[in-house]
Amino acid sequence: MNRRVFTEKSLKAAMSYGLVSSLIQTQAIGKHILPITNHWSIELNDFCHDLRKSTIGVMEWQQKVEDLFDKVPLQDLLNFIDFDQLIRGFNYPDLGVNTKKVTFPKLDGLPERTAFVKKIFGMKKDRAIIPHGHANMSSAHLVLKGGMRLRHYDNLRVEDNTMLIKPTIDKTIAAGESSSISDEKDNVHWFIAETETAFTFDVIMLDLDDKPYDIYNLDIQAKEDPNNGSFRVPILDVDAALKKYGKESHH
Ligand SMILES: [Fe+2]
Repeated sequence: MNRRVFTEKSLKAAMSYGLVSSLIQTQAIGKHILPITNHWSIELNDFCHDLRKSTIGVMEWQQKVEDLFDKVPLQDLLNFIDFDQLIRGFNYPDLGVNTKKVTFPKLDGLPERTAFVKKIFGMKKDRAIIPHGHANMSSAHLVLKGGMRLRHYDNLRVEDNTMLIKPTIDKTIAAGESSSISDEKDNVHWFIAETETAFTFDVIMLDLDDKPYDIYNLDIQAKEDPNNGSFRVPILDVDAALKKYGKESHH
């Protein structure tokens, strides 16, 4: 491919992904429009690759991904993942959430198989991503649409079908804002939609350190043994957890 054709292709791709504004800001300085080499999706993939290779730790990964989410114009990201198409005919469950796999467009420098799992999570008002903790996993969550109440807890330890946890975050979160979890920081999360519908974009790293990942659904309301701000909660099977936490009832 000669340089002119290559440039035209890149520009065409950029236009169809709604990247033109960032392209103009960062790459059209001077007389040549360069191919996109620093697209956020490539950066994101690099961070995930680094975590997989343990050249960065989970907390550093959390910080880098959240900083990146902060920096990327939300509309560029929505265009890139074709959000409108993803939520066309979206099947909102009565309890909890539904997910849809995200596919990135082809981009120079971006492997076809990214180093992370990517999905959107969608829900109706009062529905929840039910409270749960994780093992051998890290993930980051960018709100794409709507608003949610978000709570996080540190996982101090798992024992006898319970988890000892300590609250770390309790706030409302809106489109463009993000959060993340890992074994080391803010391990447990719980989202409840406060708007008609709400969506997150999720970047998920499974089986860290070559250990199989696990998920623990938690009965946060059944807290026991409060001690110095931490408390113990039972681990629930998914059906019981969905029944109790999948839909908020207002009395
Ligand atoms: Fe999770």
